[in-house]
Amino acid sequence: MIQTELFESDYIVHYEKHKIRYEFPVVGDVTFLNGLSEPVHRWFRLTPSYSPELVRYLVQELRCDRETLVCDPFLGKGTTGIELKKLGIPFVGIEINPLLKLASEYALTWEVEQSKFAEHWKETLAKIEETIDGFKGVTLENVIAEKKLKLPPIHDVFRWWKKYVLRDLLLIKESLGKVRNENYKRLYWIALCSSVLDCANIHRNHPTISFDDNHKRKIDVLGDFKENIEHILADLKRVPPREKTGKANILLGDSTHIASVVPDIIDRVITSPPYPNRFSYVHTTRPQLFFMDVFENATQSADLDCAAIGGTWGKATSVLYNGVVEPYEHLSGILQPMISELRPKHNLMCNYAVKYFNMMDDHIADLKNRITNKFRGAYIVGNSRLKGVEILTEVVLAKMFEHQGFTVDKLLVFRKRGGKKKLYETAVCVSR
Ligand SMILES: C[S@@+](CC[C@H](N)C(=O)[O-])C[C@H]1O[C@@H](n2cnc3c(N)ncnc32)[C@H](O)[C@@H]1O
Repeated sequence: MIQTELFESDYIVHYEKHKIRYEFPVVGDVTFLNGLSEPVHRWFRLTPSYSPELVRYLVQELRCDRETLVCDPFLGKGTTGIELKKLGIPFVGIEINPLLKLASEYALTWEVEQSKFAEHWKETLAKIEETIDGFKGVTLENVIAEKKLKLPPIHDVFRWWKKYVLRDLLLIKESLGKVRNENYKRLYWIALCSSVLDCANIHRNHPTISFDDNHKRKIDVLGDFKENIEHILADLKRVPPREKTGKANILLGDSTHIASVVPDIIDRVITSPPYPNRFSYVHTTRPQLFFMDVFENATQSADLDCAAIGGTWGKATSVLYNGVVEPYEHLSGILQPMISELRPKHNLMCNYAVKYFNMMDDHIADLKNRITNKFRGAYIVGNSRLKGVEILTEVVLAKMFEHQGFTVDKLLVFRKRGGKKKLYETAVCVSR
């Protein structure tokens, strides 16, 4: 085994105890930061996404080629799909969050003639500039009344965006509503969706979204939108030609029932599911879900977080306060060490973790119904700590895969996350 001093021996002890092979491969940056400098990946930002470099590494590791159908059942913003399309490998992605599903799908809109889109953008920009100039100094309320616009139905809307910012965002959105070409619409959608977050009153570069109420930044909405479109225009020149790209199918669905979502038989999985770390993908995408008219009311976002694996926001947590969430019977042995430590400390957190693992087990059990007998998969997960109790997600998942009849080939241990001690990412590599 290659070991590096980066990793603490504590984990190795667990892997060895459970007789799981492990390796420490050297892959550059495995975080979202790597994607911010790569074409197409930089169109949309999601901090818990993984890096294109990691996907390329796993493509080699799992020996994917133009004949293998690769699935990412927890697609996020679509890092896996973008890389696989570039490499000409057939791909199917599943995502439960409709905003992220659209962002992933639209990021694969490469079948446009770049120069024609550039031409269209020039004309569109002129119209947007004219509109924004025409309403300079007019209050948001008057613009809304005159143009018959609608405020995003998100709670505390003016905490999310300053009024002049919202006015310009809404005017851009209204202008783009007149675009007829479907592909251009998608590309404009991505750029606007990114600006919605870029221009919000939130802290930048935080893993979780949080308000920055007292900032004094002057926000240039049109400038930001222009920059987003310029990235898209530049990157469209760098994507491979149509005949070299792979066919990609992006589906909205729940991967705990993967067999009823994906019609085809899957050869490979490359994915990073949520971890039991109390991160809410719904909370993080809420401003965009409401601004882009994907959701109309708070019930929809609360329900989505309840249905998503690892959801933790609002109702997803409040329904776990009372009672005891039991692990599935066949998981009780695997989860017992965690439960006996966590339950006495914090019943709610224990319920949360048990629900997480039960749902991951639903996914693994149903995956068996949709894979070839040469199947190979890599699940990237991070460890986490709940109320001081270390959750070795990779070990538990490895045991769960074994229980469902998969072979656990090895764990690939990557790096400490965020420079914090004892945080790392691991690929659980399985096959059948
Ligand atoms: C760690 S993120 C994936 C990030 C992705 N690797 C990327 O680079 O963008 C996990 C994703 O799983 C999604 N998810 C959670 N529960 C799901 C479910 N039951 N079915 C499908 N997707 C789900 C979340 O919405 C989130 O986008």
